[in-house]
Amino acid sequence: MPEHYILIVDDEPHMRRVLEIMLHQAGHQVHVAGNGLEALKILRTHAIDLVITDMRMPEMDGLELLVRMREDGMETPVIIITAHGSVESAVEAMKQGASDYLLRPFDIDALELVIARVLNTKEVARQNSFMREELNRGWDAFVGSSPAMQAVYELIRQVAPTKTSVMISGETGTGKELAARAIHNASPRHGKLFVPINCAAIPAEMLEAELFGHEKGAFTGAAKERIGKFELANEGTLFLDEITEMPMALQAKLLRVLQENTLERLGSNRSIPLDIRLIAATNRDPREAIRDNRLREDLYYRINVFSINLPPLRERKEDIAHLAMHFITKHGHRTQGVELGAGIVERLQAYDWPGNVRELENITERALVLSGNGPLKPAHFPLDPTPKTATPAPGPDSPTPIGPMAPVVEALEARMIFDALAQTGGSKPKAAALLDISERTLWYKLKKYKL
Ligand SMILES: Nc1ncnc2c1ncn2[C@@H]1O[C@H](COP(=O)(O)OP(=O)(O)OP(=O)(O)O)[C@@H](O)[C@H]1O
Ligand SMILES: [Mg+2]
Repeated sequence: MPEHYILIVDDEPHMRRVLEIMLHQAGHQVHVAGNGLEALKILRTHAIDLVITDMRMPEMDGLELLVRMREDGMETPVIIITAHGSVESAVEAMKQGASDYLLRPFDIDALELVIARVLNTKEVARQNSFMREELNRGWDAFVGSSPAMQAVYELIRQVAPTKTSVMISGETGTGKELAARAIHNASPRHGKLFVPINCAAIPAEMLEAELFGHEKGAFTGAAKERIGKFELANEGTLFLDEITEMPMALQAKLLRVLQENTLERLGSNRSIPLDIRLIAATNRDPREAIRDNRLREDLYYRINVFSINLPPLRERKEDIAHLAMHFITKHGHRTQGVELGAGIVERLQAYDWPGNVRELENITERALVLSGNGPLKPAHFPLDPTPKTATPAPGPDSPTPIGPMAPVVEALEARMIFDALAQTGGSKPKAAALLDISERTLWYKLKKYKL
């Protein structure tokens, strides 16, 4: 693990010292604080990547520290250490925005594992922090008033107050997660957690434990009990993103949970009552996914009680100018003197937007960088007006020399991956979606081609 700046907050000097030594040995730079106020002072003056705080401390406890940090606009991830058996306080901390928790006593391996997990997701979280704020306001985070989007808003409004499961489909970057959060925020459950889980981003063999949680010793490596996403989402909303990437066997188990409204953690036969609102999303055509044996038909019918399809951007070009302005204000930190000068809107509308709104956001952000402090010009939006076809196979007029196939295929594959990443601003999930491969496959190939 690369070196990080970590702040330890604990009122017990001995505990502080033990953690300090552990983290130091793991190669991190360590700061320590004996209470919440001291911690806030350090956080205001130092660049800290991660806070690890004890839950129980006199005066300001770990939870309060977390709340104060968030109130002060600090996005630094926080791991809460809590006593074994006080799982409720860990859940409370997660609700308040803690990144993860550790049950005492823990060993260095457990600590390292949690740190790695939290710091790996930090970059993503930082990118999304603006989005989160915006989303918390409700479904008005949506920009665009085309008839197609108005129909979407209407569906969200209709389904939000109910407990009905919702299936959201749409191409990559069309706003599926935005829609799912909007439904949650406009629902009576908005005070509880919205728990997203991306089935494509979690290795298949870990997904079950992530969802169901487990008791201590349930399997090799389960050194501590762990609450699954189902339990975290209890009374709230569970968002199963990329549901077609969930292994079929697990889909069957998911269906059982949905039908019985109870759950057993792995390694336990105690059943926990559940009250969950489920929203699922996919950027595949669900019917095709069923045919390809990626989605169980019975599960599909259970979720697809209500479905929302997000239209691709190219089918609602009237929203493009409005969206571009929205992203200019979002990323530009400029309030005046910014306008979409002559020729820009035309240029944006002539493009096909395979990466949809996400791609428009990335391109707008890049244009702002390219323009410096000057006015925006069409040249700041370098778009390929003739979209590439999906397979840039050599046509009859450019014959490929016959010979060993592998190097040619690999070069093409690497090229496609590179282009997809460029198009999606480096987002692996989006690139995988564009290429219609799983994220796991993409990771494997990135490593293989050293991209
Ligand atoms: N109508 C919209 N108005 C404003 N912002 C939008 C809109 N649609 C999407 N966005 C923004 O575009 C980005 C992509 O949206 P989101 O993550 O919801 O897409 P998605 O459909 O889940 O994509 P993927 O399939 O790639 O996961 C987000 O930053 C989101 O805030
Ligand atoms: Mg998404």
